[in-house]
Amino acid sequence: MHAVVLVGGFGTRLRPLTEQIPKPMLPIGHVPMVERLVRRLARGGVTDVVLALGFNPEPFLAAFPDGRCGDVALTYAVEPEPLDTGGAIRFAALSAGIGSTFVVANGDVMTDLDVGALVDSHRSRSAEVTIHLTGVDDPSAFGVVGLVDAQNGAGRVDQFVEKPDPGKEPSNLINAGTYVFEPTVLDRIPADVRVSIERNTFPALAAAGSVHGLATDDYWIDAGVPDLYRAANLDLLGGGRIHDSCEAVAPEATVDPGATVMNTIVGSGAVIEAGTTVVDTVVLPGAFIGARAQVEASLVMGRVEADATVIEAIIGADGVVAEGDHLAFDTMPPTA
Ligand code: GTP
Repeated sequence: MHAVVLVGGFGTRLRPLTEQIPKPMLPIGHVPMVERLVRRLARGGVTDVVLALGFNPEPFLAAFPDGRCGDVALTYAVEPEPLDTGGAIRFAALSAGIGSTFVVANGDVMTDLDVGALVDSHRSRSAEVTIHLTGVDDPSAFGVVGLVDAQNGAGRVDQFVEKPDPGKEPSNLINAGTYVFEPTVLDRIPADVRVSIERNTFPALAAAGSVHGLATDDYWIDAGVPDLYRAANLDLLGGGRIHDSCEAVAPEATVDPGATVMNTIVGSGAVIEAGTTVVDTVVLPGAFIGARAQVEASLVMGRVEADATVIEAIIGADGVVAEGDHLAFDTMPPTA
């Protein structure tokens, strides 16, 4: 089975980390986000993945030079200009000649969903589209559905509302970013223009009655915002994920024995000097944390010099927290 994986967005909400590395290539537990995703799709029966790429495709081509990710064959569909999610799905699916039921996944979703179960639900309900749904406490920031005639979590979607006003949500079930499509959906997406699958296509298909949903309570995180990107990493340390886990410290990292490092992932080539305390943090590959620095609940790609304090901050690859400085609730370097 084919899958289209959307990886062509700008990742603005994860800046400045995404100024150097496209969001789906950022590591989650030492492995690029997109690689964890492709492995999950493979467990659900996907054999061929089309990466729907836009700007900056080179890091993806370099990461998978032989066109394979594990047992999955990868192809690349590079849009001449960003077509938004719906336009990108159409462009990628037609580029790859997909002509039968296929899976679509957002490149920044980490979940334990069994994709095979989503495909089975799609087929048993003769749906044109099946959307994976998850329940959240505050659905207003997401695409929210109304689900009717539901049995064992599966039902027909009679409403799809993208980011409704608080209090106007039809339910607490949201679009969790993994779909099964019939190829007929591609005919409903206009060619060569920007189309949002969430704002344009799904509401229209829901009104026509051909969208179904499967709600599950599997682990699910949209890793596209800083706190959730950090959580998606740290959740791999707790043993709570079904298939995914990681070592806290990459073998090629250097952590001084006199450093205190708790609930933290330290990437390859990173250096943590003596006397530091680093807690609830993702220290990305190549980052530096100098002697006696204190770092808490942060994402560090650049340098934290000696005796600095960093709390709930994001340090991009070019960011430097000077010796003895204090940085809290902030992003470095500032974005334009
Ligand atoms: P933000 O800029 O932070 O909103 O991130 P994003 O646009 O990269 O991601 P968003 O969550 O908004 O989009 C969902 C998925 O669609 C992500 O995996 C994106 O990489 C992808 N995506 C968004 N727009 C495009 C596009 O125009 N083309 C392609 N190929 N993928 C896209």
